[in-house]
Amino acid sequence: MHRARQALAERLADTDVVVEMLDARLPGSSANPMLAEMAGHKPTLKVLNKQDLADSALTALWLAHYNAQPLVQAMALDAGEKAPTRRLLKACRELAPLRGGMVKPLRLVICGIPNVGKSTLINTLMGRRAAAAADEAGVTMAEQRLQLASDCYLVDTPGMLWPRIAVPQSGVLLAATGAVGRNAYDEEALAHELLPLLRVRHEAALAQRYALADAPGLSDEAMLQAIARRRGGLMSGGRLNLHKAGEALLQDLRSGALGALTLETPQEFAAWAEAAALADVEREARRAAVRELQRGAKPQRGLLAEVARELGETFSDEAALPDPATQATIKASSKAKTGAPRARFSRSRQGRPG
Ligand code: G4P
Repeated sequence: MHRARQALAERLADTDVVVEMLDARLPGSSANPMLAEMAGHKPTLKVLNKQDLADSALTALWLAHYNAQPLVQAMALDAGEKAPTRRLLKACRELAPLRGGMVKPLRLVICGIPNVGKSTLINTLMGRRAAAAADEAGVTMAEQRLQLASDCYLVDTPGMLWPRIAVPQSGVLLAATGAVGRNAYDEEALAHELLPLLRVRHEAALAQRYALADAPGLSDEAMLQAIARRRGGLMSGGRLNLHKAGEALLQDLRSGALGALTLETPQEFAAWAEAAALADVEREARRAAVRELQRGAKPQRGLLAEVARELGETFSDEAALPDPATQATIKASSKAKTGAPRARFSRSRQGRPG
């Protein structure tokens, strides 16, 4: 990851416009925060890809959200568009009007998470199979340079996730849409996490797909059980195969069988990100307090006061400290640590939300 980050930093130094590919169903969650940090000052074209799988009204909302930002243009796209080059080039030229011509060619770099459709787009742009398109996360390996016009070239970068997905909802949505490798999650557990997010806007789509007449009255658990019954997840003795139900739900989401769905709005994503940032500050403060306890000292009041100021009334000295029983355990074992609970849908540490 460090090497990938370093390579991207070097690449960005020689770039005029960043073409950031996002999944139109989850634009906020599919944006690499590392890229935002490293390319914050660069003109950026946000390409909301797979628009055919997203709700068109919400795609319009996301486009307006991005187009209101300085140095940003946004466009929606899908693999059905046969010749997107002109549209893409026009937007990039507008973002870097001083570049172009043989002396100062327009230099673009394309970035995106695994499976966002980067290889597919590059193939379309080049009119041939230029990149390794595949359905497993992380297949695009090496960087390559593609001539888009006589005075414009595009550098492809490997599909990349970031080491820690801080927003839990984003972790769920990235896994559900196929950006996270299959070894990183359990389908049944992921379906449990996904259902409440899906039901915010798409209960009717779920009810229709799985013939659930009583959908609004069902708990998430009962809905997954109903999906198992509808999708052949009945085992001997009448037991339900919830794993199979989870697989069916994920497959239907990815293929578009549930309809065109957008899984987050700009406002929702902003609220999730804010809550996650707050949780991070709290977690950090707890860790600091624990470290102090491990050293046998009382946590510094200065640190706690600083954190309390940041968190307003929701944070107090007591909240910064583990409960007395935990404090005793920590004192007894210098190896004790605190941290974010492991996400329930995770199978391994890789790609898990923090
Ligand atoms: P990547 O390089 O960013 O990793 O993604 P890639 O192009 O390999 O695309 C990942 C999957 O997404 C592919 O499906 C591809 O066909 C699909 N895809 C790409 N763009 C679009 C789009 O605009 N709309 C829709 N609906 N799908 C898109 P696959 O099942 O993995 O492969 P294949 O069966 O198409 O070969």
